[in-house]
Amino acid sequence: MKMKVLIADKFPEQYIKKLRDSEIDVIYNPKLGENDLLEAAKEVDCLVVRSTIVNAATIENSQNLNLIVRAGAGVNNIDIKAANKKGVYVSNCPGKNSIAVAELAIGLMLALDRRIPHNVADFKAGKWNKGEYSKADGLFGKTLAIVGYGNIGKEVAKRAQAMGMNIYAKDISRIEGYGVKDFSEFDQIMPIADIVTIHLPATPQTKGLFNDAMFKLMKPGALLINTSRHDIIDEDALIKAIKEKNIKVGLDVFKGEPEAKDGPVSSKLQEIDNVYITHHIGASTEQAQNAVAEETVNIILRYIKSGVIDHWVNRAKITDTHYQLVVKHYDKPGVLAGILDVLRDGNINIEEIENIIFEGGLVACCTMKLKTAAAADMLESFRNNPNVITYSHVSL
Ligand code: 3PG
Repeated sequence: MKMKVLIADKFPEQYIKKLRDSEIDVIYNPKLGENDLLEAAKEVDCLVVRSTIVNAATIENSQNLNLIVRAGAGVNNIDIKAANKKGVYVSNCPGKNSIAVAELAIGLMLALDRRIPHNVADFKAGKWNKGEYSKADGLFGKTLAIVGYGNIGKEVAKRAQAMGMNIYAKDISRIEGYGVKDFSEFDQIMPIADIVTIHLPATPQTKGLFNDAMFKLMKPGALLINTSRHDIIDEDALIKAIKEKNIKVGLDVFKGEPEAKDGPVSSKLQEIDNVYITHHIGASTEQAQNAVAEETVNIILRYIKSGVIDHWVNRAKITDTHYQLVVKHYDKPGVLAGILDVLRDGNINIEEIENIIFEGGLVACCTMKLKTAAAADMLESFRNNPNVITYSHVSL
């Protein structure tokens, strides 16, 4: 039977064709919203979304859903907990739209420094104001703090380096390359940064990171760019900082962003000067969308052909395993089942298992991660099993 894939967001035509050419039944409906998915995704095997919300009800209501692909980077629009409960794979396309997001971040910095949107608006309104708009600072030599040094942060660093900025970056992982200096604490960097750009995922740890305390540390008149997720910034604290510290802001994400792809929009920030907001278009260049779509197609085809899920985000990173048992055995019917029987009889839970075959197909090696230790009599039975070549049992 053909695999059924629902694509519920804008997706390039040539990649839909690629899926169809691979005997996949593709339903393409980019207008679907969160509430439509409950019915629309009910009978599909795979769901592809960009920012459309995949809520718990959609996942619970689905009958065949096996894989959700986020055609983009952030997976905060997908209810991962609900996916975990039903064993639905969630994967994403990391790095594929990073350059596009970095380009927008740099664009917002330039726009703020030169007040490009105001410039253009005045011109269109028939106002010539060269005196006023000649007051830009320039970005060369400015101190830039990159908060979040993953795929996007690194692309921002490359571009900022070319523009002659003095770059600092902070990430959970190590900092490397492009003459970038690490900073460990916000109170070291915020008072000296002329520009702060945020490139973090939305997680419980990053929610509200930019609050009153953080804005207190920021240099007056600094530029703040956020092209990641809105809830990293506390909006009320931001408005206060704009008014009290003359912080100038470029955002691609904001509280109350409409789910619909077009229609009205309303935000407290509309009333405030020194804030430039774009329409969550960081990833929306043709180059980036093609790269994301290609990766999405690769994920789906590899899953169909080999069962492997690339960029599987809800795979447990830490499992409750304390022992590893590796058994090298003759690859004959019933041999592996016999080994598993021994463990079952000893009430041992296998958390993870992989059986790999040597060239020629005579011998296989089974690696198992166990919750509890195999007892001496079990190991004895492996030793006495003529189909077991060797085994090892170690605590992790
Ligand atoms: C992402 O997480 O990849 C970006 O926020 C892009 O979102 P979009 O696919 O809705 O444009």
